[in-house]
Order: sequence, then C-alpha cells, then structure tokens
Amino acid sequence: MNSKITAIAVYTPSNRVTNEYFEKIIETNNEWIISRTGIKERRFAEPDEYTSDLCIKAAKNLLAENPDINFDGVDFILVGTTTADQVMPSMASQVQNAFNIQNAGCLDIMAACAGFVYGLVLAKGMIASGTHKKILVFGAETLSKFTDFTDRTSCILFGDGAGVALVETSDQPKILNAITGTDGSHGKDLYLSQHASVVNGENIEPNGKIHQNGKVVFKWAIQTISNKVGELLSKNSITLAELDWVILHSANLRIIEAVASELNYPMDKMLTSIEFFGNTSSASIPLAWDIASKAGKIKPGNKILLLGFGGGLTFAGIIVEV
Ligand code: UT7
Repeated sequence: MNSKITAIAVYTPSNRVTNEYFEKIIETNNEWIISRTGIKERRFAEPDEYTSDLCIKAAKNLLAENPDINFDGVDFILVGTTTADQVMPSMASQVQNAFNIQNAGCLDIMAACAGFVYGLVLAKGMIASGTHKKILVFGAETLSKFTDFTDRTSCILFGDGAGVALVETSDQPKILNAITGTDGSHGKDLYLSQHASVVNGENIEPNGKIHQNGKVVFKWAIQTISNKVGELLSKNSITLAELDWVILHSANLRIIEAVASELNYPMDKMLTSIEFFGNTSSASIPLAWDIASKAGKIKPGNKILLLGFGGGLTFAGIIVEV
C-alpha cells in the first residue's frame, strides 16, 4: 500500500526572542550569531507550556487550516521529540487524549533532530505493511527548557516549535524510499542526560541540559549529509535536478550552505527555518516546509528531499511528492 502526506501544519510559541536578548546574558553579539549560524530570532515556550501543548496546538492548526481533514480513523500517532514533558505518559498519548482519538497506537521517537523524518519512515512502513491507514507524525520540541544559558556556544542556537504531518494511504507512491543510519561513537558529542553520567564508557554531565561539541557535530554533518543526499537520490533513481526542494534539518545555515555548495545545488531551493526559529531539532523540517508552503513555493507535484540529522549521531532521509 502506498502512502502520502495529505497535510502539514505547525505551531510556534508567541514569545519571540531576538539575538539582543543573549547580548544581555552572555558575551556575544547579534553579528556573531547571524554570521556563524544564520539565526535572527527564535521562539521560547511559556513556563507552563510544554511539548505536548505544542503538539496539540499544531494538530488544532492542522484541522483549522484544512477543513476537509478530520482525525476520524487515525490509527497511530508518532511524536519525534527529545524534550518530552515527562518520560511517561508519551507525548503521543497526550495528543490521543486531547482529541479523543479512538483506537490509535501511540509512540514517541527519540531520534533527536531526525525525529520527524524517522516518523515519516515508520509511518510509510506501517502503511506499506497494511496494518495502518492514517497516521499523525509530529516533530515537537521545547528545547529552551533544556538549554544551558551559561554556555554561549549552544544557548544561542535553540528554539521551540512543533510540526505535524498527516500520512494516509494513496493510489500512487508519494512517500518514496528512505535512508537511515547512525554513528553511535559520537554519543557524547551531543547529549542530554537526566541521570546517567556515562555514555559509551565516557563521562558526561547528567544535569538535564543539552551539551554539544559544536565543532565535531558541524564537521560530521557536512561530511555525512552531502554523501547521504547522493545515496538517497540513487536509491530512488532520481537526480538532484529532478528535485524541486531540499529541506535539511535547520541546525546551522552554514551547514546548509556548505552542503548546497558541495552538491552544486542552488541555495534558493534549500528550504530553511533557522532564520526565524533557530535550531528547533525535530520541528525544524516541518517549520521550513510550512514557511515555504505559506510563501506559495511548494506546489502540487513537487518532489522534496527531507533529511534530518542530530544527536546519536543519527540521520534519516526520505523523498516525498506533494
Ligand atoms: O541540531 C543538531 C546538530 N547540531 C549541529 O549541527 C550544530 C553544529 N555546530 C554548529 O552549528 C557550530 O559549531 C556552532 C554554531 C555551535 C559554533 O560555531 P563555530 O563556527 O563552530 O564556532 P567555534 O565553536 O569554532 O567558535 C569560534 C569562536 C571561538 O572563539 P576563539 O576561540 O576563536 O577566540 C568561540 O569562543 O567563536 C567564539 N564563540 C562565540 N562568540 C560570540 C562561541 N560562541 C560564541 C558566541 N558569541 N555565542
């Protein structure tokens, strides 16, 4: 059975945090942040607003923006997140409860910034196997609640937001082949630990904050992602020129520019969310999709390559047709 994305929607908190805010709390400046990351501003959730709230608001927007869509018959809910409100219940089960969706399996996916694309990979597989027909896939984060605001190399990066895609059965294959992969040896280069003080036998700080070895992750991303875009294209027998858009995880605009340059692909076909929302981890790809969609860029029939990468270090890529 084939599958397709029938709709995408997002929610971002209203609290807009500019780079000037960071000039007051750490040694930094607007020019450094823009030139090294591309970030102009990001959104922070309210103190009492959590990842499940962002998911529910994104799902409400999905219904409001698509009057022909409803959640009747949704049989699975997947939420990619690294910043869940609590370990259990899952974010997915809180979405199930909020909309009183009957008979839906619920699962949170911990694949960091690749969580949304992993969700699409799983949804496609579940529909292909014939066991499920209508799946909600979220990427949602409240990274600001897990940010170390004394670490100037990481705190300027992160923002909060959520995106959701409705994946349904289709006559034609609209969600094409995927790739996934991981290099777990880099575990301690990007971690968030609440309890354990060791990963891969190496000491880490279990303080509930995000730690990132930015330079290492940056280098890994640039080296890995260009190659993986090529692998994904050949797995689908599609050329780069046949793609209408590429959406890489918005981790840093310089990573996206470097990959575009490596692939010799025009930057104006790389869709991003980093400028206005910062690094929103699993939410960054649906946010970029939504910005482009509202700007009238994404049109029916377009082929879009999505590739998420991050903590693990892990990645997932997939090509979809709108
Ligand atoms: O989402 C998951 C995947 N994550 C990523 O892909 C993130 C990958 N990494 C990055 O995006 C970048 O490495 C960062 C944005 C985190 C850092 O950028 P960078 O160009 O790699 O900076 P750097 O760490 O090499 O630091 C360059 C300089 C240093 O000063 P010196 O040693 O050259 O004097 C830093 O101390 O910039 C300094 N610096 C800052 N200056 C002003 C570091 N942070 C700041 C800051 N403001 N906030």
